[in-house]
Amino acid sequence: MSPDSPIGVFDSGVGGLSVLSALVRELPGERFLYFGDRANAPYGEKTHERIAEISLANSEMLLSLGAKALVVACNTATAASVELLRERFPDVPVIGIEPAVKPAFEAGCRTVLVLATPRTTSEERFTSLLERRSREYGGKAVGVPCPGLSELIEEDRADAGYFEKLFAGYADLSPDGIALGCTHYRFAVKQIRQASGGIPVFDGAEGTARRCRRLLEERKMLSVSGGGIEFIGDADGRILRFWEKKGKIND
Ligand code: DGL
Repeated sequence: MSPDSPIGVFDSGVGGLSVLSALVRELPGERFLYFGDRANAPYGEKTHERIAEISLANSEMLLSLGAKALVVACNTATAASVELLRERFPDVPVIGIEPAVKPAFEAGCRTVLVLATPRTTSEERFTSLLERRSREYGGKAVGVPCPGLSELIEEDRADAGYFEKLFAGYADLSPDGIALGCTHYRFAVKQIRQASGGIPVFDGAEGTARRCRRLLEERKMLSVSGGGIEFIGDADGRILRFWEKKGKIND
């Protein structure tokens, strides 16, 4: 493993491309190996134990391909397994993603809906983060499970109607901020804005990319030779096509 080794990134499918987009902007000199694990998607409807097994297998595979760091570009896998990965691979920086509840409170929001998969919203790591931030900022962060949504986004079929129905159940709270707690949801920001009447939306991808840079800098592991992306296990080119069409996020 050397500074010029690649950074391994994984998700259940195209969701992690929203993180990859932020990573490429933050670290243009790095090489990335991106694994979209379609065979095991959706992660958000699986058990904690199964997600832990899958995350371990994905990480081992990326490390065997020479990755110098791992980015868990998936809130579900982060919530269920990031501690385990750090224990299992103590010599490798493991960067997870958190829903952007802190940036939402810091921007002045008081009641923040945190959209995530059903698996994520039942994870202790997620619920305790929401409680901690709510206490710290004197606000209210509420977890909102979104069943089936990541698959709709994979198939490019998420419409504003899904979110209208979802938000109707939380109208009493008068939310003034929305934090994304699943990396797929960044690709439905327009529909979220439309259905919510323009409530500001916050995402953790940029924070994750900055953390990745900091950790590599600390370890003197930043690459100095030109960057690039390799899509692993993308035999039908589906992930690459999505990346080319929608990957570069600039909303
Ligand atoms: N993109 C993932 C997340 O951030 C998982 C979506 C899924 O596979 O259900 O939670």
